[in-house]
Amino acid sequence: MPRKTTTSSFGTTKREGHDASKFYSRNLYQPGVTEAPTECAEEQEIPPAVHENWFDRIYCTSSEQMAIPDNSVALAFTSPPYNNGKEYDQDMSLEDYLALIRRVAREVYRVLVPGGRYVINIANLGRKPYIPLHAHFYQLHMDVGFLPMGEIIWKKAKGANSSCAWGSWRSAKSPRLRDIHEYLLVLAKEQASRPDRGVSDMSGEEFMEATLSIWEIPPESARKVGHPAPFPVALAARVIKLLSYVDDVVLDPFAGSGSTCVAAAQLGRHFVGFEISEEYCALARKRISSFELASSKLASSKA
Ligand SMILES: C[S@@+](CC[C@H](N)C(=O)[O-])C[C@H]1O[C@@H](n2cnc3c(N)ncnc32)[C@H](O)[C@@H]1O
Repeated sequence: MPRKTTTSSFGTTKREGHDASKFYSRNLYQPGVTEAPTECAEEQEIPPAVHENWFDRIYCTSSEQMAIPDNSVALAFTSPPYNNGKEYDQDMSLEDYLALIRRVAREVYRVLVPGGRYVINIANLGRKPYIPLHAHFYQLHMDVGFLPMGEIIWKKAKGANSSCAWGSWRSAKSPRLRDIHEYLLVLAKEQASRPDRGVSDMSGEEFMEATLSIWEIPPESARKVGHPAPFPVALAARVIKLLSYVDDVVLDPFAGSGSTCVAAAQLGRHFVGFEISEEYCALARKRISSFELASSKLASSKA
């Protein structure tokens, strides 16, 4: 008899006989379970001091309060924790989880320049019931004041992957959809257009590809990077090239292994990342400095 799989921190590929009971027992799936309110960003009176050189840094603190000046970041790109059982996830109710995302959204709104963009990579969760996180995210961010600018479908696989979560095989009784995509929600602060002009660095071909609403980019290997849910640097690079100028500051409020910051550094932008896990802060810093070391070696070999 095939062994049952369970959902692991680094993902599950095969799903025959998959035991999802642990996943569905999480507070996300228990209506009305909320934690006692914790001290939230709005209630704290003293904002963190802003360092003189506040960018080109990974901060090992929560992005609910960021030591960044108002109106100073051109683009934020992130993939938030999904609260679905990765090792860094807390077991929050949907309400508590969305309250965290809202606190971070307010901070991102504060630090963005007018016309600055916030792009959020998000997937929907579960099947019993299905939680359309992207719908919650739209509502929440529009309530904060963001303007929705469009939506990119990130197609992560061609189709024929190893997932066998059929639901009811060849029967209309209860077939399950097998997601091969995630969303990138594109939001803007106050206005759709950047009021300033800067240097853009896209070829015509890159611009044509990036302005289509479906992006086909292979996923990143969690094991290779050493983080349970990294997105590919190539995904961040496409967002950064499309939506920011050279020398802009790019923020990732849930930086993980630092993929956004690596892409920003590679593309001549400044970066700033927030991440609560010390392990992932160290990993992000290591990935950024390996890139910086490689590029300084390249520069000195050319000199
Ligand atoms: C989906 S992962 C981001 C992965 C990242 N895009 C990458 O390529 O590695 C979300 C990250 O958010 C971090 N996190 C969770 N709550 C946070 C908070 N309040 N502030 C900052 N980071 C947080 C988690 O530790 C996790 O590493």
